[in-house]
Amino acid sequence: MDKDTIAFIGGGNMARSLIGGLVARGRAPGALRVVEPVEALRTALAADFGVATFDAATGAAAGAGTWVLAVKPQVMKAVCESLAPLAATGRPLVVSIAAGITAGQIDQWLGGGQAVVRTMPNTPSLLGAGATGLFANERVDAAGREAAEALMSAAGLTAWIPDEALMDAVTAVSGSGPAYVFLLAEAMQAAGEAQGLAPDTARTLVLQTLLGAARMLSETGEDAATLRKRVTSPGGTTQAAIESFEGNDFRRLVHEAIAAATRRGRELSAG
Ligand SMILES: NC(=O)c1ccc[n+]([C@@H]2O[C@H](COP(=O)([O-])OP(=O)(O)OC[C@H]3O[C@@H](n4cnc5c(N)ncnc54)[C@H](OP(=O)(O)O)[C@@H]3O)[C@@H](O)[C@H]2O)c1
Repeated sequence: MDKDTIAFIGGGNMARSLIGGLVARGRAPGALRVVEPVEALRTALAADFGVATFDAATGAAAGAGTWVLAVKPQVMKAVCESLAPLAATGRPLVVSIAAGITAGQIDQWLGGGQAVVRTMPNTPSLLGAGATGLFANERVDAAGREAAEALMSAAGLTAWIPDEALMDAVTAVSGSGPAYVFLLAEAMQAAGEAQGLAPDTARTLVLQTLLGAARMLSETGEDAATLRKRVTSPGGTTQAAIESFEGNDFRRLVHEAIAAATRRGRELSAG
């Protein structure tokens, strides 16, 4: 078992982002293997990153110290069961990025007794700007945590979650979160157009405003409330808009939306 070798089971969008991030951070491509049934994806991964590709899981997974399970949730059970004999002998660190599949399910499908890190990345991971929640089961040691964190950091920021039940809240906040921003963008653009702006102009202004505001949030070190108050002069235009939002209970809407997503995540995980 080579602890530095990582086998990706599934070479789709998310695996590609992680592999690209790892190679860009200096990880030797020779230590990365990918199992992917689609030949065109295998060829592209080998050509773009110099990684070894396989069409069957067993070849790649044997001897690799870390397995990254990067297939769709629907096929995860079958994929894990096919790998169970190798997991029993190799005892790799298993990192799953599948939404809604618990560490306990993965452990059970792999035969039990496995070190499993369940992660929840989001779509900006595809650009290296992701936010990923990580949960480790009791079999994962300090070195395993470090390895999983280094892996997921290749796609953005990471946060450890102490209790797996909170992964549904992570899914609701950061997993689904980009869609809330996209919804806000849609609504702001439509509202700008309703006020007479040309669609292209409204789109450009909204896009740059969201980007600029997100950069202020992450780069100034100030919290959101402080930044909001700073642009809200008494009696001004921003105050008129904020009062309208607050009067329509914007915070309650967001609270309820995230609670609904958390509940749905819990239901989906329960099967
Ligand atoms: N994309 C995101 O933003 C995002 C965010 C959070 C979590 N995730 C999770 O990440 C996982 C992967 O998502 P993705 O967007 O990367 O999906 P994807 O692009 O569909 O990648 C999955 C790849 O795995 C391949 N595959 C299927 N069965 C396989 C097997 N038995 N052995 C090896 N490879 C197999 C698929 O091939 P076929 O097409 O032939 O089936 C596909 O190319 C999912 O579980 C998803 O829940 C994704």
